[in-house]
Amino acid sequence: ENENEDGFEKSFKEMMSTLPTTKSWRGSENLFQYQGFWIHPAYLKGVVSAQQQFQAQPTDIMLCNLPKTGTTWLKSLIFSIITRASFQDSPSPLLSKTPQEVVPFMELDHAHFSTHRDLGLPVLATHVPYSSLPRSVIDSGCKIVYICRDPKDSFVSLYHFNVNIQASQNAGAQPIDLDEAFELFCAGASIYGPYWDHVLGYWEASLEHPGKILFLKYEEMVDDTVLCVVKLAEFIGHRFSLEEQQQGVPEKIVKMCSFENLSNLEVNKSGEVVRGEIQNRMYFRKGKVGDWKNHLTPEMAARLDQITVQKLSGSRLRL
Ligand code: A3P
Repeated sequence: ENENEDGFEKSFKEMMSTLPTTKSWRGSENLFQYQGFWIHPAYLKGVVSAQQQFQAQPTDIMLCNLPKTGTTWLKSLIFSIITRASFQDSPSPLLSKTPQEVVPFMELDHAHFSTHRDLGLPVLATHVPYSSLPRSVIDSGCKIVYICRDPKDSFVSLYHFNVNIQASQNAGAQPIDLDEAFELFCAGASIYGPYWDHVLGYWEASLEHPGKILFLKYEEMVDDTVLCVVKLAEFIGHRFSLEEQQQGVPEKIVKMCSFENLSNLEVNKSGEVVRGEIQNRMYFRKGKVGDWKNHLTPEMAARLDQITVQKLSGSRLRL
């Protein structure tokens, strides 16, 4: 075992030293370009070890997306859909656990997830691009739920997230300014970016395997959350019965997982995900569509839109 681990460690370090790097959005950290995408060093080892070791089961559900496009929301929704029968008469675990805790993250937790399968739900979240998913995820035929979001709102959300982390890591450090982050984002140098390549990878795969990949948009979810939740439940094999629909079960789940409800729970207002760095409350900022209008100039918005149109040309996808 130890020899294997040492071997992995050694080849990982060697591999890492050959990768191109770019400035991350905070501090002196760099991002590493692995298989065409910019990965944070804290997750890179997990990506590589998951590719080598993670054995997906056909009954697994993978929640895949770029950071800041709706992970927290979808984690809480998928968890609530799957566990609804167990908590009809008792309080939902989401009142005392964060969405991050109820659905683990592949890059950090895949080994624990694999060895404790009997204890948890078969749901694992990841930000890796489609082309870097562990082979077993594709081969097992497990279900993939992908969510994307208007790049303008994702950028604004990611920018604030980084500023907040930087402030809690090091109170004195100057956070990256919006213009610099914007340039990096446009050039594709954002965490798990280029943004558009990530979205297109899953989009194309969803066209090829429609029964296997559900492709959602944050804006559509906001627009009609109940409809999306009904669709989501059906896709992951936990369809609402007619009786449940008549009893308003989908509506109850939507309410439980709403930004207003989750962001006001004590568990999400206090506590930390990563000690001294990421606080639970950082996952809840505004939860609105179009907040970019408060942060980007019309020129910046037009430029980002233009990049999006250009990158997506040739696909039928609109963001
Ligand atoms: P904003 O920064 O625009 O408010 P992720 O969960 O992928 O990290 O994404 C975080 C974004 O989703 C943040 O966007 C956050 O406010 C929003 N969000 C968190 N919980 C939500 C919920 N229950 N409903 C809608 N949006 C939510």
